[in-house]
Amino acid sequence: MAVSIKSAREIALMRESCRLLEDVFSKLEKAVKPGISTKDIDRLGEKLIREHGCEPNFLHYNGYPASICVSVNDEVVHGIPHQAHILQEGDIVSLDAGLIYKGYHSDMARTFGVGEISEDARKLIAVTRQSFFEGIRMARAGNHLYDISNAIDACVTPHGYGIVRDLVGHGIGTRLHEDPQIPNFAQRKKGMLLRAGMTLAIEPMINMGRADVEWLDDDWTVVTEDGSLSAHYENTILVTDGEPEILTMSGICE
Ligand code: MF3
Ligand code: CO
Repeated sequence: MAVSIKSAREIALMRESCRLLEDVFSKLEKAVKPGISTKDIDRLGEKLIREHGCEPNFLHYNGYPASICVSVNDEVVHGIPHQAHILQEGDIVSLDAGLIYKGYHSDMARTFGVGEISEDARKLIAVTRQSFFEGIRMARAGNHLYDISNAIDACVTPHGYGIVRDLVGHGIGTRLHEDPQIPNFAQRKKGMLLRAGMTLAIEPMINMGRADVEWLDDDWTVVTEDGSLSAHYENTILVTDGEPEILTMSGICE
């Protein structure tokens, strides 16, 4: 599959899709507190997305049963929200969400602390976020795709954390998942040449312990095999001839 280059009109629609998603996220972040159920976060997220006149793109995607992925502690990604799952002080929770605006998809994830969290957990979240910024620095026309992967790896590996290999970032546009796939770990090849007008979802998933993950019997929830904490940080970005544009980060949700 060829990688799509977005026109000026499409970029404008992607920008708006991403702006609306960031707004949803900024409200979800405020709702993350001890005592809230993961299903309540999903309900709120779906409501906020629909209030913007948009559709949740995760809902029913390959049969996924909710609008927001809510992954707690050793859950890496694709946690299914449940009414009985109540967030506790000290948990870390990864929210992953996306929406469709006039046919254009956005996708974004953040890991938040619930109340006070451990110093170790704070560092895991900070390094995961930092690795995104190291990766995106490479996301400019003329560089190669795996410059992004190598930069993320070089940021994370010195900390002794495990970089999830089974799930990767991706192109995004009129579909949630487009080519290319974007690994978060070092590659031996260079990968494709990046071009202005590519829109990409870059999303490191980082485990405090080993990189290995497994799937729960619900067929969705990905957890660390060793039970260690995991963090996720994702933005939809635009490749340009100069500085990349982070479409889901205008500043209201860092
Ligand atoms: N946000 C995920 C990604 O980044 C996709 C979630 S798939 C769903 O690629 F089915 F869980 F929604
Ligand atoms: Co994604």
